Amino acid sequence: MTIVLGIESSCDETGIGIVRIESDGALTLLADEVASSVDQHARFGGVVPEVASRAHLEALVPSVTRAFESASLELSDVDAIAVTCGPGLAGALLVGVSAAKAYAAALNVPLYGANHLPGHVAADTLEHGPLPSPCLALLVSGGHTQLLRVDDLATKITEVGSTIDDAAGEAYDKVARILGLPYPGGPPIDKAARRGNPDAIRFPRGLTGPRDARFDFSFSGLKTAVARWVEARDGQEIPVDDVAASFQEAVADVLTAKAVRAATELGVGTMVVSGGVAANSRLSTLAAQRCAEAGITLRVPRPRLCTDNGAMIAALGAHLVKAGVRPSSLDLSAGPGLPVGTVSV
Ligand code: KG4
Ligand code: ZN
Repeated sequence: MTIVLGIESSCDETGIGIVRIESDGALTLLADEVASSVDQHARFGGVVPEVASRAHLEALVPSVTRAFESASLELSDVDAIAVTCGPGLAGALLVGVSAAKAYAAALNVPLYGANHLPGHVAADTLEHGPLPSPCLALLVSGGHTQLLRVDDLATKITEVGSTIDDAAGEAYDKVARILGLPYPGGPPIDKAARRGNPDAIRFPRGLTGPRDARFDFSFSGLKTAVARWVEARDGQEIPVDDVAASFQEAVADVLTAKAVRAATELGVGTMVVSGGVAANSRLSTLAAQRCAEAGITLRVPRPRLCTDNGAMIAALGAHLVKAGVRPSSLDLSAGPGLPVGTVSV
């Protein structure tokens, strides 16, 4: 049995996860501690990098202590350490990477610099077991919107499509601001949308024309369309629930239509949806419906595993250990723009 410690600090969540690789290769989640600085960013309407870095510095060691307490383990039980080394905010990543190096040197265990994006996919293996090869991952978060072909979680991931402008979560956050809803915008829009009529306003579906890039996304036109619609009301009361529902319908429609088309054209039978926006109620319902129609098996991890956390990095670390991937050297650095195909550094 092998114990893997995972450290995540790429954005505004300090995540510490502990995963055990059982003798049959199965993964067991032993601890999942998350300290979020989201409240400190709320009044700015987005993550402030310097504030996030300082919050990571304060939260990291106490979160590690809590994780080991909840797993009833000691630091000396750790056999390997995985840390998010990119992509993300440079200063925030450096806090996690520096801590991981210190723990790895002190404990004399291998260190794996891991990519945050495959980490989101690895989170699902904690809940639903090994992924079939190949599978398609739809990654939807505040910073990323991507379609990935996953042949091997530890070694072979290929980008099939991505957003050419805003990420899906970013669109939620910006539209929430337009509607006077709090940050982060996903949960309050999701809640308002459940009361509204999704057919009230027909907002544009970006990049869905016949000549548009098949698997790429665009959400900035949608955000602008919502802003124009609200402006045109010229001081009259805004039907927030209907705008939220119609916006949410446009996002869920485009994401699921493109993902199902990609899976079908690539001949892939399983789809994983992960990242913060995967917690969205309409996205999961529509994805389930369209995947069922197309004969595709859908996997969505529980919401806590969808948003940023350390368990997903511990899980990816466990896959790297199992695949026999070479550990990182102790001069590992943060890679804010790390490409998704580089699973470990
Ligand atoms: O994966 P995540 O926790 O952090 C990043 O790596 O970005 O995703 C955060 C994003 C935010 O933009 C937030 O508004 C969005 O996920 N989000 C949602 C929901 N819950 C969180 N978007 C839509 N519906 C939700 N229920
Ligand atoms: Zn993320």
